[in-house]
Amino acid sequence: MDKILVTGGLGFIGSHTVVELHNKGYEVLIIDDLSNSEIETIARIQSITGKQPLFEQIDLKVESEVKRVFEKHNDIKGVIHFAASKAVGESMDKPLEYYENNINALVYVLKAVRRLSFKNFIFSSSCTVYGEADAMPITEDAPVKPAESPYGNTKQMGEEIIRDLCRAERDFSAYSLRYFNPIGAHESGKLGELPIGIPANLIPFITQTAAGIREELSVFGDDYNTPDGTCIRDYIHVVDLAKAHIIALERLIDETKTEKNYDVFNLGTGRGNSVLEVIKAFESVTNQKLNYKITKRRSGDIVQAYADTTKANAVLGWKAEMSLETALLHSWQWQQHLKVIKN
Ligand code: WQD
Repeated sequence: MDKILVTGGLGFIGSHTVVELHNKGYEVLIIDDLSNSEIETIARIQSITGKQPLFEQIDLKVESEVKRVFEKHNDIKGVIHFAASKAVGESMDKPLEYYENNINALVYVLKAVRRLSFKNFIFSSSCTVYGEADAMPITEDAPVKPAESPYGNTKQMGEEIIRDLCRAERDFSAYSLRYFNPIGAHESGKLGELPIGIPANLIPFITQTAAGIREELSVFGDDYNTPDGTCIRDYIHVVDLAKAHIIALERLIDETKTEKNYDVFNLGTGRGNSVLEVIKAFESVTNQKLNYKITKRRSGDIVQAYADTTKANAVLGWKAEMSLETALLHSWQWQQHLKVIKN
């Protein structure tokens, strides 16, 4: 049974990836510092898959800790690196913390992977690297625009660091996966996103409003140059996203398939939906009436971003399968489950 290391494996995308790895028969080692996750997520994963992941609670910013854990588990076949800080706004106030968390930790992990026999690495990147792209849908060839936040910059720099390493060391293989907007939850309703405090992202704000935790959803601007005036995004179900990681990692592990030892892929559905379309879809699939009002634009929002997924379809043979409606229904089921466990 091959062992895969998932850093940030108790986070939103990480935990769903651990479930899919278990489903495919892998042994999983999770590293997480619990800075933005809960230890109970291990039990949630176990209740879905019937398997217990290995777990090490360490701080990846401490190189000696990274070394120690990698030496203990030197049979790791591949590493999926999710662990990072991800709040755009917070990164504006705490740039050094973001660089330390997202860059120092990445370098330490890469140095440790280099000492393994199998040097296969998947990096969590983001569509944020494209900024306000000139053409839709966005292909991987679209230019990387100057980052608008330290967070975005750490994703761009992270990609460059990995690309440079792969150029220098041919036995190192890595993919950067550029996620569009991950949403949804596990279909069991037992695993999902755990936003701390007031959610910054649209879907958790919607589900919390429907659940009565927030009074009202603000739609940030309806005067954009889009058909209904609200911003357009590519919302992808987190389980579709999780599956893509495993397909990508298996391709890296299978050396006969890796003619390039570094590449980047967009992970999205290829569909763009406006904020108002998301609200309507949520209302119709859950039979909930959502209390919302149009407010002014949120600074820093781009008008539209949706993926051209041709490359991931052709090279990885992966395609997002679940609809926006299914993703919203799963988010809602998770919200209801959370209400039960939190009360
Ligand atoms: C979606 C749309 C808002 C909240 C985030 C990350 C980014 C990237 C992708 C990570 C926008 C609108 C939102 C609300 C609203 N991934 N909205 N009311 O901004 O696309 O980006 O995911 O690497 O870094 O920040 O996602 O969910 O915040 O917003 O009207 O209360 O919903 O204006 O149009 P975003 P989001």
